[in-house]
Amino acid sequence: MNQPSRRVALVTGSTSGIGAAIARRLAGDGVTVALHSRVSVAAGTALAEELGRATYTQADLSEATNARRLIDEVRDKHGRLDILVNNAAMTQVIPHGELKRATADVWRRLYEVNVVTPWLLIAEAESMLRESAQGGPPGCVVNISSHAGVRPKGASIPYAVSKAALNHMTKLLAIALAPAIRVNAVAPGLVDTPMTATWTDTHELWRTRAPMRRAAKPEEIADVVAMLIASDYVTGEIIVADGGLNLT
Ligand SMILES: NC(=O)c1ccc[n+]([C@@H]2O[C@H](COP(=O)([O-])OP(=O)(O)OC[C@H]3O[C@@H](n4cnc5c(N)ncnc54)[C@H](OP(=O)(O)O)[C@@H]3O)[C@@H](O)[C@H]2O)c1
Repeated sequence: MNQPSRRVALVTGSTSGIGAAIARRLAGDGVTVALHSRVSVAAGTALAEELGRATYTQADLSEATNARRLIDEVRDKHGRLDILVNNAAMTQVIPHGELKRATADVWRRLYEVNVVTPWLLIAEAESMLRESAQGGPPGCVVNISSHAGVRPKGASIPYAVSKAALNHMTKLLAIALAPAIRVNAVAPGLVDTPMTATWTDTHELWRTRAPMRRAAKPEEIADVVAMLIASDYVTGEIIVADGGLNLT
């Protein structure tokens, strides 16, 4: 690969859980990381210091205008973007049979942050990702989806449907943006993060039924993201990383 030490990656939602693990992994691989989160400014600033050349930008991605501002800030601070990891997302736990609890407002909020925002970020980042491809390997987008977007499972039906939409968007964009930009997704099962800390039954399910007998560590999802970034060829794939639960 050309000039790996100068590559820049934006990782959305990178102050916590999977996003923070991806940021640390990419920084360890010699990538300059643009960190981002919704409200956790202190955590973002501290992680930027820890990672060296990294920067941090605060932006609530439930506001569509903030997607453009975020990409503009990355351009201003780094002058380039080679890798975009759409990791930030929202969830809401609603039992699947309780239809009236999944209100129109819940559907719209989850769809906005989990589907529309990744789309806007990719659209705003497209020109920088194409420029990146001119001097080296293809630009790279990795969307963090969920096993819930692949199987009829998950925290709630609106969440699962939003991730299924993200998976389909991944494949459509892989075709539309090739060969200059590769677009892939990682679909984790249960991961040990603040989002899932209280999901006792789900942890029990993974301990008893998943072939790997446990939830993933955030670093193990970051390994899969790094694998997709390292390839110059793979595109349009949804990599399920659920410890094999989907096989049972
Ligand atoms: N944990 C799992 O078991 C699991 C399983 C499958 C898929 N996933 C997916 O993995 C990704 C990361 O999950 P996680 O468990 O690591 O989450 P997490 O620990 O709760 O971290 C979420 C990150 O996203 C940011 N964020 C949330 N809402 C945002 C918004 N509206 N605008 C901007 N930033 C926002 C948060 O910023 P603030 O802290 O400032 O709010 C935080 O940095 C998500 O896409 C999730 O759907 C997770």
